[in-house]
Amino acid sequence: MSQYPRIATLKTPEAFKARLDELNLNIPFDSRLESGPESPLAQTLEIHGKKIGNRCCILPMEGWDCELDGNPSELTYRRWRNFGLSGAKFIWGGEATAVRHDGRSNTRQLMITEKTLGNIAKLREALVKSHIESMGSDMGLYIGLQLTHSGRFSKPNDDHLMESKVAYRHPLLEKRYPFHEKCHVMTDREVRELIQDYIKAAALAQKAGFDFVDVKHCHGYLGHEFLSAVDREGEFGGSFENRTRFFREIVEGIQTEVPGMEIGVRLSIYDYIPFKKDGDGKGIPETWEGKYPYAFGGDGTGTGYDLTEPLRFLDLMESYGIRLLCATIGSPYYVPHLQRPALFPPSDGYQLLEDPLIEVAKHIEIVREVKELRPQMVTVGSGLTYLQEWFPQVAQALVRNNQMDFAGMGRMVLAYPEMYRDILMGNELQKKKICRTFSDCTTAPRKGLVSGCYPLDAFYKGLPEWAKLKELK
Ligand SMILES: Cc1cc2nc3c(=O)[nH]c(=O)nc-3n(C[C@H](O)[C@H](O)[C@H](O)COP(=O)(O)O)c2cc1C
Ligand code: SF4
Repeated sequence: MSQYPRIATLKTPEAFKARLDELNLNIPFDSRLESGPESPLAQTLEIHGKKIGNRCCILPMEGWDCELDGNPSELTYRRWRNFGLSGAKFIWGGEATAVRHDGRSNTRQLMITEKTLGNIAKLREALVKSHIESMGSDMGLYIGLQLTHSGRFSKPNDDHLMESKVAYRHPLLEKRYPFHEKCHVMTDREVRELIQDYIKAAALAQKAGFDFVDVKHCHGYLGHEFLSAVDREGEFGGSFENRTRFFREIVEGIQTEVPGMEIGVRLSIYDYIPFKKDGDGKGIPETWEGKYPYAFGGDGTGTGYDLTEPLRFLDLMESYGIRLLCATIGSPYYVPHLQRPALFPPSDGYQLLEDPLIEVAKHIEIVREVKELRPQMVTVGSGLTYLQEWFPQVAQALVRNNQMDFAGMGRMVLAYPEMYRDILMGNELQKKKICRTFSDCTTAPRKGLVSGCYPLDAFYKGLPEWAKLKELK
């Protein structure tokens, strides 16, 4: 059991603020929550000639629950309907959507092809319909689709078999996963073929009615991996110019061949060296002699950051007219405590090394810095769910102070889909639905089960997978 105070025990704003002070954390907090049209979270923001109806954003959340051929299943529809009813006007990407089969992170990942296009369009429509039912109108609703290739973490044919397509050999990660044999370093020619698949996927997303595509560059997946391909030979590795060629060619292709399709980027602004368990099960960084080179945005220590390259990347985005940035940090595979602050680790994680509020503060701080240094970026922040009942007050303060343009919500929407709506309408929070970061939605897929909020969502509690998950845990 954790030695850190649970958020639920910090019952008053004073108690919560006292804990922040004790940890010396700069997390802004509004004691008074506003509702109605005057609320900072209810303000509109214009981008690419479209007015996004409020400052509430749903982060991409996949469910490992599509059909084997990449079509959405009834569970996928249910999740997207929940995104719609949340009241958020900004839907960042829906969920990771593979641009082709070998890049699926699991056998049930959504995949966009000619064959799945019709149903992916219906998925979007289902979201819009439930949004209208919940909010009365779809005015200001802005919906993107997250495009991905899972690279190192691809398991397209068997949920227990990684069939990694990588940008470069990684000395630490390859020690950790039993997939060395099948690890394939993509050739420049193969990378170029994949770029064409991204462009095709963007064209399909446009046909399906999405406002933008997210060219995903985060969490250790392929796009993100290219950014740290410092040892790779050839056109896609080494210099910053080469490491961003994958990104640039996708963007140039989309802008030429899919006019009118807007682009956003979900970026791990910085990364850490992989963490491992120490003798007591606590998370510690892997050992590394000298400067650690494989963390994009890292300062070489393995656990610090240097914004020089991330800012160059943002400038590159801007040179293409791309201003939509969803900021995240790290990876759920090798630094889950950083990417997804939680009191309870997922099955492949480790015990806490510090109060998760410290990680939440890191997410907040990095967006604040980026916003200050590159104010033209339209930013969405991540990692706020651990704030639990204090999510609304912090989200409001962040947006009000212009530290973040949109508050992003990940896990909380699985547990409590109507939270944003309750905030915007001034309803009392439904405490029983608040995500307590049990991490079952991460553990379940690690065990080959569909993801969902098993502990708090009665629908998932009713599935046979819940008994299986408890047994496996
Ligand atoms: C079950 C689950 C599925 C996720 N799926 C995606 C995804 O498809 N794409 C993505 O970029 N991030 C994904 N994430 C990461 C979240 O978008 C988010 O960054 C993370 O949960 C931290 O935000 P939070 O504290 O609000 O949960 C997922 C996280 C979880 C727990
Ligand atoms: S399973 Fe539910 S309560 Fe646990 S982290 Fe996921 S959304 Fe939160």
